[in-house]
Amino acid sequence: CRNKLAQTPPMGWMSWEIFRCQMDCKTYPNSCINADLYKTTADAMKAKGFLDAGYDTVHIDDCWEADARDPNTGRLAANADRFPGGIAPLADYIHKLGLKFGLYTAESKTTCTGHVGSYLNEILDAQTFADWGVDYLKVDGCNPNKTYYPTGYTAMGTALQISGRDIVYSCSWPAYLGSNETTKPYNTMIGIGCNLWRNWHDIQCNWKSLSSIIDHWGDYGQVLASYAGPGHWNDPDMLLIGNDCITDDQARTQMAIWSIVAAPLIMGNDVRNITASTRAILLNRDAIAVNQDPLGQAGFRISPKGATEVWARNITNAVAVALLNKGSQSSSSADSEASRAQTMRLDLPAGNDGQGPVFTHVDRDAQLRARSAAATAANTTTITVNFSDIGVSGSADVY
Ligand code: DGJ
Repeated sequence: CRNKLAQTPPMGWMSWEIFRCQMDCKTYPNSCINADLYKTTADAMKAKGFLDAGYDTVHIDDCWEADARDPNTGRLAANADRFPGGIAPLADYIHKLGLKFGLYTAESKTTCTGHVGSYLNEILDAQTFADWGVDYLKVDGCNPNKTYYPTGYTAMGTALQISGRDIVYSCSWPAYLGSNETTKPYNTMIGIGCNLWRNWHDIQCNWKSLSSIIDHWGDYGQVLASYAGPGHWNDPDMLLIGNDCITDDQARTQMAIWSIVAAPLIMGNDVRNITASTRAILLNRDAIAVNQDPLGQAGFRISPKGATEVWARNITNAVAVALLNKGSQSSSSADSEASRAQTMRLDLPAGNDGQGPVFTHVDRDAQLRARSAAATAANTTTITVNFSDIGVSGSADVY
């Protein structure tokens, strides 16, 4: 029993990366977890063109909850000071702007920050979320008892399906199962209706964390890609783009790799205060088109791990290629952690069936050419690449 949602990777904005669990609204009136934060962010997403570009959901993460369930109904409740009137009026506000609304719970007695979780209350909570107008539910883990996950995530999946409302189901279960991606229950999760899942570590606001996630996706690329497709996606976590903890080059790198691996594009910035250059990176139409390609085939790293890498993805009638320079060879920067990704679309020869070639490898010459292009491409706008063994060649604009 599966829904028909998330046919392409979800796009939106989530509060956790930048606003975390700040509940002191006296000291931090503009950045604490309260209804105003989500209203003003929703306003900005519409006014600044993010909704038009596809970023269509505003997500509350942890720390919205009251200290206890409603004593009369047993339902979850929002903190009354920070969410006056509860969650439903906020969801209404967001819906009226043309956006969708995401909320958070956990398959544990308490969430990671100690708030009330959905453990053993899945049916009641799913009904409550549906009644409030939730369109997307992130279900965290944080349960010391990992043996509960198969029961809990299955129960919540079923409860959402019978709730009477279309709700995208995001399951954080595999994020709590370590680093070996070959042993995680991805087929089970697809079966119980998870539309996406956080696979691995939380992203932190620095390049070290971002590049470790890129490396992890590179190391397990083909395994992870085999579980991705319309309706079910891997989630390497939120976009740091727009936060000053990374450079614009590093931001471009995240946009490129997240697009190649068909990751959800969920911003973790302050949309209300964003620079023109990072806004442009997030609104890059070509990168978004790669990310949202309707074939829904996730790409992966096709070169060995290294200072310069080649990543590729089959998209409709073309191949998207990202040349990634993780080293210090960038001609534009002396920063030893300079990172740069150039993404391009290579059109397939006429007569192709639209599925694109299957990337299992590229020949050594192609790798070397692509890698040297990655190393020197920082100031160019066009790169010529020739993957002769898979019949793809071309001179392409980078974006
Ligand atoms: C762990 C998750 O992975 C984060 O994304 C965030 O939701 C926190 N928990 C909230 O407690």
